[in-house]
Formats: sequence, structure tokens, C-alpha cells
Amino acid sequence: MQKTLTITRPDDWHLHLRDGDMLKAVLPETTRDFARAIIMPNLVPPVITGDDATAYRNRINALLPEGSRFTPLMTLYLTETTDPGDVTRAARTGLITALKLYPAGATTNSDSGVRDIDKVMPVLERMAKIGLPLCVHGEVTDPDVDIFDREAVFIERVLQPLQARLPALRIIMEHVTTRDGVDYVNSADNIAATITTHHLIINRNHLLVGGIKPHYYCLPIAKREAHRQALLAAATSGNPKFFLGTDSAPHTDPNKQSACGCAGVFSASNTMACLAHIFEDAGALDKLEAFTSRNGPVFYGLPPNADKITLTRHETPVAFPAKIHTGAGDVTLFDPGFALYWSTI
Ligand code: NCD
Ligand code: ZN
Repeated sequence: MQKTLTITRPDDWHLHLRDGDMLKAVLPETTRDFARAIIMPNLVPPVITGDDATAYRNRINALLPEGSRFTPLMTLYLTETTDPGDVTRAARTGLITALKLYPAGATTNSDSGVRDIDKVMPVLERMAKIGLPLCVHGEVTDPDVDIFDREAVFIERVLQPLQARLPALRIIMEHVTTRDGVDYVNSADNIAATITTHHLIINRNHLLVGGIKPHYYCLPIAKREAHRQALLAAATSGNPKFFLGTDSAPHTDPNKQSACGCAGVFSASNTMACLAHIFEDAGALDKLEAFTSRNGPVFYGLPPNADKITLTRHETPVAFPAKIHTGAGDVTLFDPGFALYWSTI
């Protein structure tokens, strides 16, 4: 039986749009379903200053599909030389919605990230004062720490001490992937977390068993099944501390299917279909709106979107393209590993 679900139009609280030909091709994949997105600043070179963010926002807005009312919510890439005055100006004018902390070397294009948290304390103190949230890539980069433990160790070594030092700073633990992360976010004040679509669907077996699947390789890396279950429970609970950040992160196929492949899963086009599917499976379709459209705006102090989106459950599977073609090369779309019956059109 065909059924429909109408919810407040969703937002994506963690998105990579890139630039140039790639931006042009991936932007409509997000604007089709989403009203706003937190735009990650890890371009080459990164979006560091207010002027950089203005220029990037202009490049995004210039490529919006006709009639689109999509709003890119800009972020600055926190570096050890970021000027608190520049951050304050960019926040006051409404240009930026958050800053992003990448531990140096943690992920794609993070070389200019933070090595010594002491060096960025003046900026973080200013952010706490003016109420500007900090998005955090929560993984340590210590080569002695196993890649599967990097999130849990980050909580202990960086997040807890930072929250003890600056309790007023509002933090978003981006793309949480572990039960440890979920538990920490639940136990502390002034912190929320985004969860990606793919981390709700794949565990590390999907990545590694029966041959390595480069299109499931992302950072933080997918963990064991018990962690996926914890993420799914958090996302489908309605708990306002958890909301969608797809971390849709396009890389061209040659860059993924390589002896040293890039990290990132591109899921913008079928994210809402995937989420409706897994929320329905979990008996929690009534919680989808909280996760995609309600909890994020509340944490960011923004109004929810005024318009709605209708999802339809079809009787036969909906076809999504396996790849999208961009001027920079083909980008493979996330394959959830099951047929999708939901669509947003
Ligand atoms: C992201 C990218 O490609 O920019 N990659 C990823 O695996 N998630 C960076 C990031 O968010 O870590
Ligand atoms: Zn990301």
C-alpha cells in the first residue's frame, strides 16, 4: 500500500559541497530536499576568515538551482592563528553559524587544523561569550592510537577537558560513530551530536568483509555493529541532542578507488530515502522529523523551516542513479545495500 509522510523540511547539519565543477553538480542533490546545511570549510585552501566565507557563500549562491530557497550556513575553519575579532564580526553579521575544529591531520584537508588546543583558547572563549557553537571532528591523531579507538580517546583527552575548562561553549560532536560518543553526549551539558546516514546503516564488516569497499570508507571509520546499534537507538529516540548531519562528502571515483583512497561517503541524493527506510524498520517513523528537522534548529537556536516535505513509500523500489556525473569526474552514490521504497518526489 502506498503511504506518505509529511514532515517539516529537513536541514543537513554537516555537509561538504566542495567548489567549482564539483560544487555545481552536488549542490542540487542537497537543495532538492534540504532547506539549509552547515557547510564544511575544508576546501583547499580552507575557509578561514570572514572574507573567505563571504566569497565561498557567493560561489554557492551563484550556483543555486533556479527558484531554490536553500540557505548555506557558513562555517570557518579554526586555525591556531584565527583572529577572535574576525570571528566575532562574522558571527555578528550573521555570516557564519559555527566554527569547525579539525585536529590537524585527522581527515581530508585538515592539515591547517589545531595541534595545540591552548593556542585556540582565546577564540573558543570569545565563542562561548558570544554564543557561537563549535563543530568538532572528534578523533585524536596520535599515531599510537588505533583508528577504531580514536573517537573514544578524543572524548577522554580533548572533549572532557575542554568542557571542564569552558562549560559555556556549545559544542556539536560531529558524525558520532560510537556508543562512547552517544553516552558522553547524553551525560554532558551544552553538547549535541550529528549522526550520518551511512553510520546508521553500515558497520565495519560492510567496509571490510568480502573485499574492501572504498565507497564505504570515511572518517570517522565505521565501527562494529554494537556501535551502529547505539547510533540507531539515539537517532530514532527523538532525543533533542541528536540530529542529522549527512557528512555527504563527494570524491571522484578515481580518488576513491585507489591504492590510497580518499575518505568520504556521498549520500546527499538518497539520504532521506535511506533514513525513512531505517526509521520505518525501527518502528520509529514518527521520530524522523525530530531527527532531520526539529532537533538541529533547536540546538543551533534557529527557527525550524516553515515549509514541509512529503515522502512517499512506493510499492516497488525507487531507482537512484549509481553515480552522479560532475565536471570533475563521476561520484558514486552511497549504496545502502537494500532496495529503497521511499522517495521525496
Ligand atoms: C570528509 C571529506 O571528505 O571532506 N571525509 C570524511 O570521510 N568524512 C572530511 C570529514 O568530515 O572528516
Ligand atoms: Zn565531514
